[in-house]
Amino acid sequence: MQGRRILLVIGGGIAAYKSLDLIRRLRDRGASVRCILTAGAQHFITPLAASALSGQRTHTDLFDREDEADIGHIKLARDADVIVVAPATANLMSKMATGGADDLASTVLLATTLPILVAPAMNVRMWQHPATRRNLATLRADGVHVAGPNDGAMAEAEFGPGRMAEPTEIADAVERVLAAAADRHESGARGGVLSGLRVLVTSGPTHEPIDPVRYIANRSSGRQGHAIAAAAAAAGAEVTLVSGPVSLPDPPGVRTIHVESAREMLAAVEAALPADIAIFAAAVADWRSATEAGQKLKKDGNAPPPLQLALNPDILATIAHRAEGRPPLVVGFAAETENVVEHARQKLARKGCDLIVANDVSPGTGVMGGERNSVQLVTSANVETWPTMTKEQVAGKLVARLGEIAKGRGRA
Ligand SMILES: Cc1cc2nc3c(=O)[nH]c(=O)nc-3n(C[C@H](O)[C@H](O)[C@H](O)COP(=O)(O)O)c2cc1C
Repeated sequence: MQGRRILLVIGGGIAAYKSLDLIRRLRDRGASVRCILTAGAQHFITPLAASALSGQRTHTDLFDREDEADIGHIKLARDADVIVVAPATANLMSKMATGGADDLASTVLLATTLPILVAPAMNVRMWQHPATRRNLATLRADGVHVAGPNDGAMAEAEFGPGRMAEPTEIADAVERVLAAAADRHESGARGGVLSGLRVLVTSGPTHEPIDPVRYIANRSSGRQGHAIAAAAAAAGAEVTLVSGPVSLPDPPGVRTIHVESAREMLAAVEAALPADIAIFAAAVADWRSATEAGQKLKKDGNAPPPLQLALNPDILATIAHRAEGRPPLVVGFAAETENVVEHARQKLARKGCDLIVANDVSPGTGVMGGERNSVQLVTSANVETWPTMTKEQVAGKLVARLGEIAKGRGRA
């Protein structure tokens, strides 16, 4: 991150002391750091310490006459490559999620178009509170990047998620955000194959609840869909990823919406439209439990409870058959264990999509959950068989092909 400019907003949490170390680590990697301290932060560390470590004046007051004449909150919101909020308090996250702007930190965060990375830190109960969960989901949907928090011991002799990520982890996350922003910028500047297009991607499995602790799922890891979202963003697209439950980090530079079930995924996809290209890579459960028990099902003698299944919505077909607002290019995935191409052809016709990426997920292939993929691209006109590649390479090649198709159709 040599020469990159970082605006570090330090919130009023006990982890503020770790942000002093973060300043050093970012500077060690070649970045320059300017700090804003909230009033809360100044109960934990001083502006003097932040200035001494950053080598720059630290800003604290929205109505500072000297600052407003000299730098000003709008200039602060513009003159950096990335804004890092660490620790991101529950309060700061709430203000960011609702557009509050009642001090210098929140006003700058509202007045900026820069990429933002937050490193939340708070008591485990604050972190798990429904209000914080809602705020976090809103921030993610707004494209804010999130690092941590980690599990661990807390200041209040408690244990759980809420501990701020370590300074090196935050610095690594800043590097990833900067790299993604640079990719997008470069791609836009050289007219990346998808630049100016809105791309919607689904990824991962869905979880269909049976009761509060049990669910129906499948072995999808989300690696292929996440790689496609990252490749589309690197090709200059504005990407929304609707992800089922996966253990992968959100791809940088991608607006990521997290869902659990097929019905939630369909609702998120419909809310994310319009799009120029929609790529449905998620392994959506075909069926869900017809009933969802409010309490954990109990063993009742020896007889297992009957599990009645109900059909889930077909997300690909629903979107591909939309009379209004159908994305001009709709791509489906077909995971098959036999007669791959034949089944893909039938699926193409039945679902009404433009292209099917077919893959053989028979147990011996290691595709489900694995790192490599062997795919065939099926259109109504022909079938292309691609050699076995990593899922990232498949994503790159697919994005390049979609770029060609979009160009051929006059940019979708
Ligand atoms: C000792 C102490 C520790 C605190 N630690 C945290 C914390 O880790 N995370 C958090 O969200 N709030 C924490 N708070 C509460 C915040 O300081 C409070 O919500 C404050 O209004 C945050 O202001 P800010 O978001 O403008 O920095 C703590 C308060 C005290 C007194």
